[in-house]
Order: sequence, then structure tokens, then C-alpha cells
Amino acid sequence: MIKIAPSILSADFAAMGDAVKKLKAQGADWVHFDVMDGNFVPNITFGPGMCQAIRPYTDLPIDVHLMVEHPSDWIEPFKKAGADVLTIHAESSERHLHRALQAIHAAGMQAGVVLNPATPIEACVHLLPECDLVLLMSVNPGFGGQSFIPETLVKIKKLREEIDRRGLSTLIEIDGGVNPETARLCIEAGANVLVAGSAVFKAPDPAAMIKALRCE
Ligand code: DX5
Ligand code: ZN
Repeated sequence: MIKIAPSILSADFAAMGDAVKKLKAQGADWVHFDVMDGNFVPNITFGPGMCQAIRPYTDLPIDVHLMVEHPSDWIEPFKKAGADVLTIHAESSERHLHRALQAIHAAGMQAGVVLNPATPIEACVHLLPECDLVLLMSVNPGFGGQSFIPETLVKIKKLREEIDRRGLSTLIEIDGGVNPETARLCIEAGANVLVAGSAVFKAPDPAAMIKALRCE
């Protein structure tokens, strides 16, 4: 069963509660929450305050993607703000990813590591037992509306083989440039969770788009 995680980065920031409230009825599985610090990536979005603000508007899991330096500093604030899933970048200033993943679990959230397009999957293979999910970026992080990088499919296939060979249940999440065409390729390669920002929020019928992204 493929999960669809609309990224509220592409929602109307002035009507965020309403946008989040609609997602469940539109068929979404998770709410993807892109945190950018203007340092790790060249953009700034929102933080725990926004997470806390939207929490009452949905009972879907909130999937927080930390595109920040020092991600460990934000584990407790996001737990308090109601986050369910927390992912941290392997390329961030966190030197002890394994410990950080354990800290996310200890705080009671699902934990995952994120790899940029340039980072080989070897950066996460020894972390897999600590990962509920691995997020593979299919664009360079920082902005919505970019084009899917096809080389990501090679990474998905390699990671899927590694997870299956070891009998693990780690989910593979894909983020960036996901539309009905690239969604199909990702699913065929072995992805489980698809993030979609502009595809969902710019669609005339978001519910139909979420259904199309499942490629059932
Ligand atoms: C990019 C973010 C994505 C972004 C995806 O840095 O991590 O979640 O919102 O947007 P689309 O689906 O428009 O590529
Ligand atoms: Zn994201």
C-alpha cells in the first residue's frame, strides 16, 4: 500500500489550517512538513510553532523533514509540537546520526535519515536497523516545483534490494518532482511513500491527483 504525503510547502500559507484539514478527506496518508533554516538549504519555511498550530486540524501523521543544521536540537521541540515522524539529513552538521536516530525513537517518534541526490545509499545502509524510513531526495532540497532527477530510480532499486535482502521493513520515501508519471517509476523501483507538493496543491482536483499518484 503506497502512502501519499502532500507537502504543505506548496499550500497557501495564509490558509494553512484549512489546507491541512482537507487532506484526510482528499485521501492523503501523511502530512509532509518541510522545515528549512536558510542555512542547510537556501530557503526558510516554518518550525515547531507551525507544527503545533496545524496539529488540531488533522489526525494524520505529521512527517517532519528537517532541512536544518544541528537537527538534534529540534527533536524535543517537534515532539512537543505533535510531530509523528522526524527525518534528518545525512549531510547536515549532525556528526552522530545513529545517536540522533535513537534520540528520535526515545522521544516516541518514527525516525528516518534523508539523502540528497548526490549522496550514495551507502550513507544509510549501516543505519537501517535504526530507521523506520529512508527519505531519498529526488530534487535538491530547498524549493517545491522542481523536476524529478531520474538517477534517483537507481538509488531506490539499490536500497530496495538491500532492505529486502536483510528482511527489514524500512520504508523508502521519495521527495521532489513527484507527479503521476514519476510516481509510477518510483513505485516500480520499490518506493513506499511519495511526497508531492505542487502536484497536489496546484491540482484543480487534489483528491483526484492523490488517487492518481497511487497508480493503482
Ligand atoms: C523540497 C521539499 C519537498 C517539496 C516537494 O526541498 O523537501 O518536500 O515540497 O515539492 P514538489 O512536490 O513540488 O517537488
Ligand atoms: Zn520534503
